[in-house]
Amino acid sequence: MRANIRDMQDIGAPYAPPSVSNRNLSRRQFFLSATMFTGILLMPQQALARTKSGRIDSLIKAMTLEEKAGQLTIMPAAFASAPATAANPAAVAGTVEEQAQQIRDGQLGAVFNGFNLEWHRKMQKVAMEESRLRIPMVFAGDVIHGFRTIFPVPLAEAASFDLDLAERTARAAAQEAASAGLAWNFAPMIDIARDQRWGRGTEGAGEDVLLGSRIAAARVRGFQGNGDLNRHDAMMATLKHFVAYGAAEAGLDYSSVDLSRRALEDVYFPPFRAGLNAGAGTVMAAFNEISGIPAHGNSWLMRDILRRQWGFEGLIVSDYTGDAELIDHGFADGPREAARIAFLAGVDMSMTSGLYREHLPDLVRSGEVPEARVDEAVRRVLELKEKLGLFDDPYNRLNGPAIAANSPAFRPLAREAAQKSAVLLKNDNALLPLSKDRRIALIGPSVESQEDQNGSWILFGTPKDTTPLSDVMRRTLADPTLLTVARGCDTNAAIDGGIETALSAAKDADVIVLVIGESERMAGESKSRTTITIPQPQRDLAAALAATGKPIVVILKAARALVLDDTVAKADAILLGWFLGTEQSQATCDLLFGDASPSGRLPISFPRTDGQQPFHYARKASGRPVIPANPDQEYRARYLDTLHTAAFPFGHGLTYGNIVYGPAQVGNGNLPWNGQLEASVSIINKGTRPAREVVQLYIRDRVASVTQPIRRLIDFQAVNLGAGEECTVRFIIRRDQLLFSGVDYDMVVEPGAFDLWLAPNAEAGEAVSIQLAAQ
Ligand code: BGC
Repeated sequence: MRANIRDMQDIGAPYAPPSVSNRNLSRRQFFLSATMFTGILLMPQQALARTKSGRIDSLIKAMTLEEKAGQLTIMPAAFASAPATAANPAAVAGTVEEQAQQIRDGQLGAVFNGFNLEWHRKMQKVAMEESRLRIPMVFAGDVIHGFRTIFPVPLAEAASFDLDLAERTARAAAQEAASAGLAWNFAPMIDIARDQRWGRGTEGAGEDVLLGSRIAAARVRGFQGNGDLNRHDAMMATLKHFVAYGAAEAGLDYSSVDLSRRALEDVYFPPFRAGLNAGAGTVMAAFNEISGIPAHGNSWLMRDILRRQWGFEGLIVSDYTGDAELIDHGFADGPREAARIAFLAGVDMSMTSGLYREHLPDLVRSGEVPEARVDEAVRRVLELKEKLGLFDDPYNRLNGPAIAANSPAFRPLAREAAQKSAVLLKNDNALLPLSKDRRIALIGPSVESQEDQNGSWILFGTPKDTTPLSDVMRRTLADPTLLTVARGCDTNAAIDGGIETALSAAKDADVIVLVIGESERMAGESKSRTTITIPQPQRDLAAALAATGKPIVVILKAARALVLDDTVAKADAILLGWFLGTEQSQATCDLLFGDASPSGRLPISFPRTDGQQPFHYARKASGRPVIPANPDQEYRARYLDTLHTAAFPFGHGLTYGNIVYGPAQVGNGNLPWNGQLEASVSIINKGTRPAREVVQLYIRDRVASVTQPIRRLIDFQAVNLGAGEECTVRFIIRRDQLLFSGVDYDMVVEPGAFDLWLAPNAEAGEAVSIQLAAQ
C-alpha cells in the first residue's frame, strides 16, 4: 500500500502540484525540448496573472528587443574588488564609463560583485535619469558567508546543527551587503556534496539531505529577511547550482555528472525544494552536465521539473559563462546557438558572456526564438526588481551610510558562530580544555598570520579584520610568557630549520597546540584534490613533535573532510577548526581554554582513506553487506585494506561534558498510518562541565519497493545539559518523515518495519524496531 504525500516535512513539497507529468518524456522529446523551442513550453498567462501592477506590462510593451535583451544581461561590475575579480576567470566587462553607457543605452540590467556604495549610486542615477525607460539596476553579489564581517565557511556553520544561527548569520550578511547597495545574493549554495575531493563542498552544508534542506531554508529566510524583500536590508536569495553540481565525476570540479533520476529526487532535489518553499526568488543553473545534457541546456530540469512540477515562477540565471560553455561541452556549435539553446531551455538571464545581449534580438527577428519567451524572461527580471522595491525606490539600499568597514556590530555573532561550528573530534584523557596557566607551544604554518581564517569566497571582507591566533592566545593566557610560537613549515613546503625551531619552541612546554591542515586556498571553486590528506611537510612536523612525547592538541584547518595519518590521528585531542571567519582566533581560544564548549557535529563523514571517496553514511546495504562483527569475511562489500566505515562519522562531535545515552524508547513501536509515534531517549551528562548535545534520529526502512539507505537522518534536536543533569529528549514521528521516491518517482511510504536509532552520530547506537501500520 502506498500514498502520495505532498506535505513533506523539511525536504519540501513542490509548492504547486504538477499538472503535467514529464516522467515519461522520451529521449527524443527530451532532446527536442532541450534544444528546440515549442510554444507550449511558455506560460504567458500565468506570468501575466502574477503581475500586480500594470507597470511591468507597460514597460514590456514599450521596450525594444535590444532593451529587453539588455535586461536579460548581468555583467561583472567594472568597479569590483581584486578578490571579486579573482574569484572567476577573467572576463571583459568594460570600464566604469563603458558600463555607464551600456546602462544609458538599456543594454545592461544588472551587475554583480561591485562593492562600493558610491559607485552603485552613480550607476543607479544613470539608469534612473539617463536611460530611456528608467528601469532601475539591480546590484548582485556572492555574499556566501558574510560581507565584511566573515562568518564560518558554510560547511563549518552547518556543523552547528543550529538553524537559528544559520538564519541569523545570513541576516547579518544581508544587512551589511545591502547597506553597500547589493540587493540580490548568489547564495545559498545548497549542493549536497558526498565526495570530499570536490573543493566546493565548503560552500554548502555537507552530505546529508535533511540537514542540507533545513539549512537551505534557514539561509534563504535570513537573506530575504523573512520574505519582506522590499525592505532596505533584504536580499533576494539564489539557490545554486541547479543541479547535482556536487556529484562531479571523481570529485573534479565542473566535470560531468551521470546520475539516476532517483538520486536526483532523493538527494539533490530536496534542498532546492526546501529553499523554494522558504521563498527563494531565483535559481542558478549548474556548470555540469547531467547524463549528457548540460544543466544550462536542460529543458527537462528547468521547464519540466522546476517550473511545471514545482511551480517555480522566479528567475533562472546562468552561472557565469555557463551559457557560452555549452560550446565547450560539445552541445552548441557556436555562441549564437549556445544563446538560443540556453534561453529556450529555460535560462532567463545570461551572466558575463553577453550572449543574450548579442544574439537574442536577431534570434527573435529570424523566428528562432519567439518574442513571447523573451517577454516571459524580461517579466521575471522586472518582477525581481519590483519585489526588491526598486521601482518604488531605486535608492532603497543606496541611501547610506554603508555599515562601516570592520564594524563591531556583528562581531559577537561571528564569535558565537565560530564557537558553535568547531567540532571536537577527539579529547583523550580530557586534555581539553586547557588551563590558562600552562606553558603552551603554538606551532603551525598559519599561527602568526591573519590569513587562513576566512576561507574561500571572501570577495568583500579582508584578512586584515582577523587577528593571528598567537596574539589572542598570548593575551588569553595568565601570563604572556607562557606561550612559545613557531611556524614549523609552510602549508605545502618545509622551511629551513623549521622543525628544529618548532622542537625548541616545544622544549619547555607542557602542551603543544599544533595547527595544521589545508590553507584556505586548497578548497573552493576549481580546488579539487585527488588526495585529501594533510600535506606531507606538515605531517613531518607532526611526527617530529609527536616524538617529544608531550601532549598534543591538533587544531585541524580544513574545509572538507580529511584523511588523518596515524600521527595526527594519535594526537590526544583534535579540534576541527575549519575556517571560522573574522572571530576565528578568539573563538578558538574560547574553546581551547574552556570559556566556551565545543558543540559542533560533523556534517560530512571523515573517511579512513582517500580511496573511499565518494563516501557518506547514508549508503545502501548491497546484497552482500559486510558483517560488522567479521569485517574480513570474503565475498562481502568490503575493502582488503580498510574498513568501509568512517574514521569519524557524520554527526560525530564531542563536548566537554560526558554524555551517556540510555536505550531508545518507542512505546509499543506502532506508528499508525494517520497518527504519530513518540520516540525518546534519556541522556545524562556524567561530566563536570555543561554540554550542548545534538541528539540525532535515524531510520532504516527494512523492506521497501526501492532499496533504502542503511541509515537516514530524519530529525535532530539540540539540548543543553548542566553537569550531572539528565533529560529525556522526545521526537514525534509521522509517516511523512519516512517518504522516499517510489518506483515511478512519486513520493511514497510503505507500511512495515523500520529500524530507529536515537544516537550521537550516524554509526552509533542500538537500533530499535518500529512498525508503520497499514492504512
Ligand atoms: C560560481 C557561482 C558564482 C558565480 C559568480 C561562478 O564561478 O560557480 O557560484 O555565483 O561565479 O561569481
